[in-house]
Amino acid sequence: MAELTRTAAEDRGAWKSKIGFILAASGSAIGLGNIVFFASNAYKFGGGAFYLPYFIALFVLGIPVMIIEFSLGTMTGKSFPVAMRQLVGKKGEYAGWWTISCALFITMYYITILGWALTMLVGAFGGLLTDPAIAPFAGMDSPSDGPNATVYFFGMIATWAPMLSVAAIWAMTILILWRGTKTIEAAVRIFVPLMWLFMVVLIVRGLTLNGGVDGMLYLFTPNMDGIMDVNVWQGAFAQMFFSLSLGLGTMTAYASYLPKDADQINNSMVVSFLNCGFEFIAGVAIFSMLFAFAIVPSGGTLSLSFFVIPQGIAEFPFWIKGFGVFFFLLLVIAGLTSAVSLVEGIASPLIDKLGISRTKALALVMFPGIIGSLAFALPQVIDPAISSGGTLGFSLLDMLDHWAFSYSLLIGGLIECVMIGWVLGADKLRTFVNEHSKFTLGKWFNVQIKFVIPIILSLVIGGTLWQDLSGGLYQSDTDFGSFGWLPAAIPVVWIISTLVMSAVLTNRPAHDHDPHNVSNPA
Ligand code: PFF
Repeated sequence: MAELTRTAAEDRGAWKSKIGFILAASGSAIGLGNIVFFASNAYKFGGGAFYLPYFIALFVLGIPVMIIEFSLGTMTGKSFPVAMRQLVGKKGEYAGWWTISCALFITMYYITILGWALTMLVGAFGGLLTDPAIAPFAGMDSPSDGPNATVYFFGMIATWAPMLSVAAIWAMTILILWRGTKTIEAAVRIFVPLMWLFMVVLIVRGLTLNGGVDGMLYLFTPNMDGIMDVNVWQGAFAQMFFSLSLGLGTMTAYASYLPKDADQINNSMVVSFLNCGFEFIAGVAIFSMLFAFAIVPSGGTLSLSFFVIPQGIAEFPFWIKGFGVFFFLLLVIAGLTSAVSLVEGIASPLIDKLGISRTKALALVMFPGIIGSLAFALPQVIDPAISSGGTLGFSLLDMLDHWAFSYSLLIGGLIECVMIGWVLGADKLRTFVNEHSKFTLGKWFNVQIKFVIPIILSLVIGGTLWQDLSGGLYQSDTDFGSFGWLPAAIPVVWIISTLVMSAVLTNRPAHDHDPHNVSNPA
């Protein structure tokens, strides 16, 4: 009987409470981006020099785009491509599926990095079970030499162990998504408070280290030196989109499980501030350790969290294993709640469009997804002469990350603003948002969506492309040996496969199982 009285919305899924939604959306936003990528970007771009572009990115782009993505979900009660179809027609759906296809690629390597974090977590225990004398993060070939996180990391990725971890992370992700909002909400109620707690422990530890406060000062002291450098701005904008989980349809999927009258200005502010607050705290914790141990990070984005911080932790005066485990458990938990949202952002449009069951949709995402994640964890060493990027998987990941991170989210955001601003009409969205919100958005919001954001995003995307085409691509001297064709093949495979996937899915007839569908197949 209860089955019969359930509404269509409840069948699709619905958050039990506003707090459930806030936890899930902030769990999506807070992830590897806040811990791994933020600290290394802030370091690369000169600490205090990063803040002006960062805050501009938050207020001018981040919060407005989040308001749009959340509102698409509540306006239509559907996930991103289907919502775009209803609001702006077929070209909107095509763009929608393109972003979802990009999300699939990002999910693949995001989960590989999580798999590495899980294997580092095991390394943090050292020889706890086998030989307690073996230090945490001791190199696999020379365990008696003591901790050396860099050697441990590159030794570890050249084994098959990360493949197991990748499979374990995929299994956990699917398990959390099994019953939709019900299981997601149950998981984030535990994981999100836990990651805040772990972060507080780490920041207290970092700041109480000798010299730790200097790291915080480096991070916060304004520095205008880099402000004219276009790379700083590009870095801040791409970081903001990734960190807030924008441009990939994820936030629309989560918002589609909210009631129509949800206050999306309030939700966007709360989620953005929780995310950026966490990012700051993470930055302080990491920078305080860097300064306390006078470590100068070098190398790629992953180096800070995967070998610099563990190396710092290994020099703690006490409870090394505990803090090492803490740090990687934090990475795994934070990344897992983000991976869950990425997969939900891909699975829910398949359910909405094709009318298939959740189990089928999850299987459709998982099979290609797990193959990709495993490929990035491939342990074959292709260039033994270099100490980083030595495995085939690592190099593949690095190259795909370049395309996916620098381009797809920002292009997704650009298309979204142009279509909503010009085709649907910025005023329609603004009126809808204002009807349900305590604060109201003025006419300036129309200018923001129609002009300001598209112009800024076009400049940033154009600038990155210009740099890539003028020879800066990858900036790596890895010798790929017989895999020399890979660097050129990656962007081609990425572009062609995402375009084909979007064409196929857009042209599939919709399974219209919602009698209240107000579709506008223009
Ligand atoms: N925001 C996540 C992080 O900071 O790690 C990553 C992410 C999740 C990006 C979901 C995009 C997305 F749709």
